[in-house]
Amino acid sequence: MKIFLDTAVVDEVREAAKYGVISGVTTNPSLAARAGVGGVEGYKAAVKEIASIVDGPVSVEVLSLDAEGMVKQAEEFSKWAENVWIKLPSTPAGFEAMARVVKAGIPVNQTLCFSVNQALIGGCIGVTVVSPFIGRLDDSGQNGMELVLDIKGIFESYCIETRVLAASIRHPLHCVEAAKAGADIATIPYAVFKQMMNHPLTDAGMARFMQDWEKALKK
Ligand code: E4P
Repeated sequence: MKIFLDTAVVDEVREAAKYGVISGVTTNPSLAARAGVGGVEGYKAAVKEIASIVDGPVSVEVLSLDAEGMVKQAEEFSKWAENVWIKLPSTPAGFEAMARVVKAGIPVNQTLCFSVNQALIGGCIGVTVVSPFIGRLDDSGQNGMELVLDIKGIFESYCIETRVLAASIRHPLHCVEAAKAGADIATIPYAVFKQMMNHPLTDAGMARFMQDWEKALKK
């Protein structure tokens, strides 16, 4: 399973990129707002900088609600950097835009996916990745990881090439479960990425090694 970072904060991308495991970045309007980007120009500047740091796709979300506007923005935003994936929502207008954007050869990240049927439509259109939102499904009392498992199984049965990107990851266990469910990619908030690297027994083990080494130096 590849690891993407779910953020629009340039410093987080720069920091996480040091570990050499970040294969891409996903952004959305909420993340852009949280990062303090100022309007579309600010979003563009942040995406350009992120794309210069990460060797992999950067997902950029359209801000229009109608298919025409989405297609226009997809064409415009895809020029912001090489390897931009355009995020289009799982709505009727979004699916209409997906069909046109995929046809134009622009990679699409189907976002806000909450059902097998939505994933099936995106997969048949030929989107590059579909993003089931695990955490938000869990929040609503449904099992988000079951959706990942179902989509993977169905795509495999029908040789649909669309990859599954586990999104709305909230904690390290989500990462483990996404990997077990066969997600191709998980997009992870910076805080969760840091948590993935830590374990209290590793810290205790390091402390013990250092104490013992101090003793050895005194002999
Ligand atoms: C994915 O591409 C989305 O940006 C993200 O994972 C949404 O996560 P949230 O449900 O925590 O906002």
